[in-house]
Amino acid sequence: MSLPDRFVLGPLPTPLVPAPRLASVLGLDELLIKRDDLTGFSFGGNKVRKLEFLIADARARDADTILVMGGPKSNLCRTTAEAARVAGLACELILYGDRPSVPPFNLLLAETANATCRFTGSDDRGSVDGFAERRAGELTEAGRKVYLIPRGGATAVGAVGYHLAAREVVGQLGALGFDSATVLVGVGSGGTLGGLASGVSELDAPLELVGASVSRDPDAAAAQVVSIAEQCSELLGASRPAVDVKMIDARGPGYGKPWDKAQAALESARTTEGLVLDPIYTAKTAAVLVELAAAGLRGPVVFWHTGGMVTAIDAIGREGDA
Ligand SMILES: Cc1ncc(COP(=O)(O)O)c(C=O)c1O
Repeated sequence: MSLPDRFVLGPLPTPLVPAPRLASVLGLDELLIKRDDLTGFSFGGNKVRKLEFLIADARARDADTILVMGGPKSNLCRTTAEAARVAGLACELILYGDRPSVPPFNLLLAETANATCRFTGSDDRGSVDGFAERRAGELTEAGRKVYLIPRGGATAVGAVGYHLAAREVVGQLGALGFDSATVLVGVGSGGTLGGLASGVSELDAPLELVGASVSRDPDAAAAQVVSIAEQCSELLGASRPAVDVKMIDARGPGYGKPWDKAQAALESARTTEGLVLDPIYTAKTAAVLVELAAAGLRGPVVFWHTGGMVTAIDAIGREGDA
């Protein structure tokens, strides 16, 4: 298997730590937290592992400008702005909607990282796709070499970071004396879980992968995870992965909308472990953890903390506007 280039951003590996007090409140025998909120580059959470390979790919292709798309609160867009800057690349963000009157911290950070932010003027999340294609055409015509990062950074290259994270967590579980576990991961674009599924399949590791889909219908999210896992394994020259992922609906009232079960799970994690969760991804994933435990799951469970720290602080500082 040949690995693509990596542009090192974060001090990996991240820790895998037991959470005994939260486990006891939930009725789990063993709960471990994979601390990808600590990936160590600009509060980037799970985006850091993806961007290490996406930025390296952009550089290998001699790109001078990164075009990345998402929403005004996008963790990916803001972290890409920071990563592009340290790599010496220009960065443009294509964001759906209009610039909010109270800009979320992710947007403020992107702007202060010198990224140009363009808004599609439509609240449709898909509006960024065509807009970004057109903008890439304009930039190319003007002589720029553009590298396009789709929503969520969900490409085979981005998923390589999580293919490697699968190896990381299997080693850490082994060192702690666990030979099997259920691994719960929040799913948006599917790149994180897709990469993990590719890695777990290659290792033939006895891990049960469970996704908590926060934005898409669970069947669509599962299909996306399988597709990314297959593309990632193909890119790495590994055999076609046997992807077996259970996907649970974690949208609550809808993507980005507050959910009382998520809020309760967020408070429980903070009270018992001092673990800060964000309302859009990790708290909704924690709500699924609560459901699984109530349905009889005992563990060992790995809760993959994917970050979202800037949004977490937004939510606390600007109650009701998260
Ligand atoms: C904090 C956080 N957790 C989870 C996810 C979901 O990751 P993915 O888009 O790779 O499914 C995202 C990104 O969209 C995120 O920002």
